[in-house]
Amino acid sequence: MEFAPNGLYPKMSQLNRAEWASPYDKSTESHRGGLNQAGELRERFTLWALNSLQQTSMPKTKKNPLDSLDLKPGQSIDLLKALHIVTREGGINQDSRRKLKQVYHLTHFIEPLIDEVRKTNDGNVYLVDHGAGKSYLGFILYDLYIKQNPEGAVVAGVETRQDLVDKSAQLAEKLGFSAGMKFINLPVAQATEHADLPDEVDIVTALHACNTATDDAISFGLKKNAKFMVVVPCCQAEVASHLRQNKSSQLGKTSLVEMWRHPLHTREFGSQLTNVLRCLQLEAQGYQVTVTELVGWEHSMKNELIVARKHQKSNPKAAQRLRSMLTELGLDGEEGLLQRFHVPA
Ligand SMILES: C[S@@+](CC[C@H](N)C(=O)[O-])C[C@H]1O[C@@H](n2cnc3c(N)ncnc32)[C@H](O)[C@@H]1O
Repeated sequence: MEFAPNGLYPKMSQLNRAEWASPYDKSTESHRGGLNQAGELRERFTLWALNSLQQTSMPKTKKNPLDSLDLKPGQSIDLLKALHIVTREGGINQDSRRKLKQVYHLTHFIEPLIDEVRKTNDGNVYLVDHGAGKSYLGFILYDLYIKQNPEGAVVAGVETRQDLVDKSAQLAEKLGFSAGMKFINLPVAQATEHADLPDEVDIVTALHACNTATDDAISFGLKKNAKFMVVVPCCQAEVASHLRQNKSSQLGKTSLVEMWRHPLHTREFGSQLTNVLRCLQLEAQGYQVTVTELVGWEHSMKNELIVARKHQKSNPKAAQRLRSMLTELGLDGEEGLLQRFHVPA
């Protein structure tokens, strides 16, 4: 007997009358008080038929694409459409979804910080997001955690591209968020002196702010006495370029130079070293620092999340280690780097 490809039922052409007889039909030779072969086959066929019938006759519940976005109650679909995460037809734009995933993860880290600041600050909170781009982060934070209780909260985005600043301002207007959101067209390095930003801010964020914009964001946070800084750095080329320049002079001095002798290693080690120096700098300035991964590496290679919480005035030991590191790597003569990482004299 041959079976159909799924093995559940016999090929129809091979079923003869005898096989279709009742399993308890005495006329079939193989009956011995239980199911004979034909009966067994018939039962299997019936099962298969019922199964298929159920599958085809069941009303297909159409999946709502928005279900996959893990939306929060009251979350604005208009915002997700404006950020091109949801298409006009209500589908999901997979590329933007990846971005949303990163931003969601980041907002989970930032929400408790906003709460903490508001609890201890009469409900007020001032957050500045540097290298804001389309302001995904600022908008999602405002939509999820601030719009329900906007009094005393400001989310400001600093961005060098005028077109993105204008679009963000228009979107905030459209969504009714403009009372608590502002967008400033400026390089991060100039934001400290900008009249529209207060002398002190509570939280500084920078998600993939290009090159040294992350360092400028940290400097901004230090000058504005930020309680928290949350940064996910982009690539930074400055430290690698100093390592490159010093390569030959370091060759005879330390075998550590092997860490950056090959050009690819110069870039990679430079990038790693930059984040290490950023963390030490924050610790030296009195912050408690945690470093973790934002999302899986499949979502982004630029994935290191640095969260800093101000907990003391300063930390001289960390400052000492910062200086020693730069000395051991032959970078302590680099005036630019000493200033960049606020190395105390
Ligand atoms: C890679 S995008 C990230 C945008 C946004 N944070 C996000 O994650 O969607 C970097 C943004 O930083 C802006 N940018 C780069 N250097 C900057 C600087 N020095 N000051 C302000 N913005 C800067 C760029 O114009 C760009 O919009």
